[in-house]
This record gives sequence, C-alpha cells and structure tokens, in this order.
Amino acid sequence: KRTQVVVVGGGPAGLLLALLLHRADIECVVLERRSRNYVLSRIRAGVLEQGTTDLLRSAGVGARMDRQGLVHDGFDIAWRGAMLHIDLRDLTGGKTVMVYGQTEITRDLYDALDAAGVAVIHEALDVQPGDVATTTPFVTFHTESGGTQRIDCDFVAGCDGFYGVCRSIIPPAALETFERVYPFGWLGILVRKPPIQDELIYAHHARGFALCSMRNPQLSRYYVQCRLGERVEDWSDTRFFDELSARLPSHVADRLQRGPSIEKSIAPLRSFVAEPMRHGTLFLAGDAAHIVPPTGAKGLNLAVSDVHYLARAFIAHYQDRDDGLLGSYSPDALARVWKAERFSWWFTAMIHRFEDDGSFGHRIQEAEFDVLAGSKAAQTALAENYVGLPF
Ligand code: FAD
Ligand code: DHB
Repeated sequence: KRTQVVVVGGGPAGLLLALLLHRADIECVVLERRSRNYVLSRIRAGVLEQGTTDLLRSAGVGARMDRQGLVHDGFDIAWRGAMLHIDLRDLTGGKTVMVYGQTEITRDLYDALDAAGVAVIHEALDVQPGDVATTTPFVTFHTESGGTQRIDCDFVAGCDGFYGVCRSIIPPAALETFERVYPFGWLGILVRKPPIQDELIYAHHARGFALCSMRNPQLSRYYVQCRLGERVEDWSDTRFFDELSARLPSHVADRLQRGPSIEKSIAPLRSFVAEPMRHGTLFLAGDAAHIVPPTGAKGLNLAVSDVHYLARAFIAHYQDRDDGLLGSYSPDALARVWKAERFSWWFTAMIHRFEDDGSFGHRIQEAEFDVLAGSKAAQTALAENYVGLPF
C-alpha cells in the first residue's frame, strides 16, 4: 500500500492534520493504537484559544463548537480569600477563549474524517516507522485481525503523544531534550453538576493550588494540586470536595455543588521540549514533541498550532513544489512552543504551593500576586498569553 502522508496517532493533532491535508487533496492514513471509544473517553483539555477555534472552523469542524462551546471573556484568580478578575476581552482588545472539551473536538474530527472517507485505522499495533532518514519512508503495523501491513509514503507525521513511538526512533545524537518535572500532580474530577460560577477560578492556597473549570453548563471539572505518588483510590469524592472547598475563598466555596464524580484521575506535571521537531521525512507535532504543565491550558492549543505550521508546509510541498516551509517547520513551531512553555512554567510557578521553596519563595509568590493585582501591564501580559499568542 502507498499513501502520501502517514499520520501516527489519532489524538487532536493527528486527526486535525489528516483533515487539513485531505481538504488540500493530499492523501493520508491515520494509525491509532487505541480503539475509538478509548480515545473518546479520555478527559483532557477544556480551554481553546482563538487561533485554535479559528483553525477548527477553517477545517470545517466549527459548527457544533460554535453552538455548544462557551465563550469566556475572563477568569478569576483566588488568593488570600479574595478574587482578582482577569478581564481577557478588555486587556487584549477583544480576544476571548472558548470552553469546549477535547473529547468533543475529537468526536467532531472523527465525524468529519468519516464523512470525507479518510482512513483512520484503530487498534494499529506495533506501529514502526522505517527509513525516515530517506525520502522513501514507510510505516509497518499490524491489527488484531490482519497480519503485518506496510504503508509506503513520502512523509511520516508523528502525532502520537508523549509516550509515542515516533520521537523514540530518532537517534539520540540527533535530538536535544529539555525537561523540568514539578514536585506535585493534579487530581481532577468530572461532576454532572452546574459549575461553581460561569468563569474559571485559579486558586492559590497554602494547602495547594485548586482549579474550578467546566465542560458545559451541566458538567464541572475540578482539580486540586496533590502530592506525587498519591492514589486515586485514596480520594473519596467527599475528601476531594472538602479539600477543594478549603482552598477556595469561603464565600465562593459556599456555592460549590457537590455530586458523584464520573471521572477521577491524577496527572503529573512536566515541561518537556524535543528539538528539532523534524528528522528527515519524519515530522513531530503536539505532545510527541513537547509537554507543558496544564496550568493555563496550553497543551492542546500548542498541538493545534504545530498542525497549522505542518499542514501549511505539506500543502506548499505538494501544491507549489516549495519545500521552504518544510525546512522551517521546526524553527517556526518551536518559536511558539517555547513561549507557551515559558508561560505555562511561569503560571505554574506563581500559583502552586512549593513545599520545598521555604519562606523566601513563598514571599516572592505573594509579591508576584501583588504585582499582578496592582498592574494593568502585568495583567495584560498574562491575558495576552492566556488567549494565545499569534500563530
Ligand atoms: P494525544 O492526545 O496524546 O494523542 C496521541 C495519540 O496517539 C493518542 O490517541 C494515542 O493513543 C496515540 N498513540 C500513542 N502511541 C501510539 C503508537 N505507538 N502508535 C499509534 N498511536 C499511538 N491539556 C490542557 O490544555 N488541559 C488539560 O486539562 C489537560 N489535561 C490532560 C490530562 C492528561 C492525563 C494528559 C495526558 C494530557 C492533558 N492535557 C491537557 C494535554 C492535552 O490533552 C494534550 O496536549 C493534547 O492531547 C495533545 O494532543 P496530541 O494529539 O498531540 O496528543
Ligand atoms: C482546564 C485545564 C487547565 O489546565 C486550565 O488551565 C483550564 C481548564 C480544564 O481541564 O478544564
């Protein structure tokens, strides 16, 4: 079998790339290790930048998002019992973000790919790209029912997430990695109850960070900072809500609507970048190339901006026989990646509780908040990054 681009990974990055390529008459096949239901049951990101929503619309998958997504003009930072409102729209000259879950985007992308007849092969096992240092790469895999298959192609797009195979086949000497791990995780739950308020709350507290988010007007998503090595089983819903309440200003906590959790999971926090994002005819995009801590919701948005640069480069190659954009893909994408890495690192550092930082570190955090509370310039810098830097 032969195609033009093999896309490894059917998360948001891989699916959106496949759709953009198909719309430009470029043939591709998506290979996803998991079942469709498994991919659709993963609860992950929830906040979309304007550049992300624009790109989804231009790919033809914006209709349900525009009907059901929630436009957020701002959010609150809770600190020392009070709330600081960050007015995104006012601070950025009209920009906003959209609350619409990664699950919903993934579903919309699958529907669009099905309608377009693009092949998405689920439960593709032992996916192995080969000869990516040449211009005649291929990918082998097998499925439960069939034997080993091989697809020859012009390019391989590695959209297979942080634990995927694509980054791992690049020789270590050809890849430089940058990493920071944080000494805590996020414990998150999903609850079928109306959100605590109609905007998000990022809460700093001596007991640890907490976040009140949502997926829709009937579905709330809450997180609390937890220690590494904690187990979900040790967190009953009651314990979770008690901890969340304790970290919110009491007049806000009073409004919290508790309910049985329908999902509960712990995510570690990590910053990671692999450079370059290209090796021969293999191109990495999204979590396959970089990870941000979740604070500020940049992970999914970065995956989408990578795909913007990569789709543009493939289209120039096939339509205009111009490889300039393929050549500059890695530096183009990385320039934006590093700014989002910086922002996610900064927001994480300012708002979490760092037990080992000592009293000096804690006072610096308090001063950081006071600077933000007292300076429109500081709030503007936060808002510009939160709504997303230009592609
Ligand atoms: P992924 O969504 O990881 O997709 C990669 C796909 O490749 C997966 O479907 C995987 O099954 C598949 N795959 C992996 N290996 C192979 C292989 N060998 N062969 C074939 N297929 C393979 N971001 C936020 O902004 N806010 C959040 O609250 C948030 N929460 C998160 C919680 C968790 C537990 C995780 C892991 C991430 C979270 N993120 C969050 C980050 C965000 O979800 C990611 O940045 C986003 O999913 C990146 O999309 P992607 O397509 O690059 O990678
Ligand atoms: C969510 C996650 C984030 O990291 C964030 O900054 C905002 C919202 C969420 O999952 O809803």
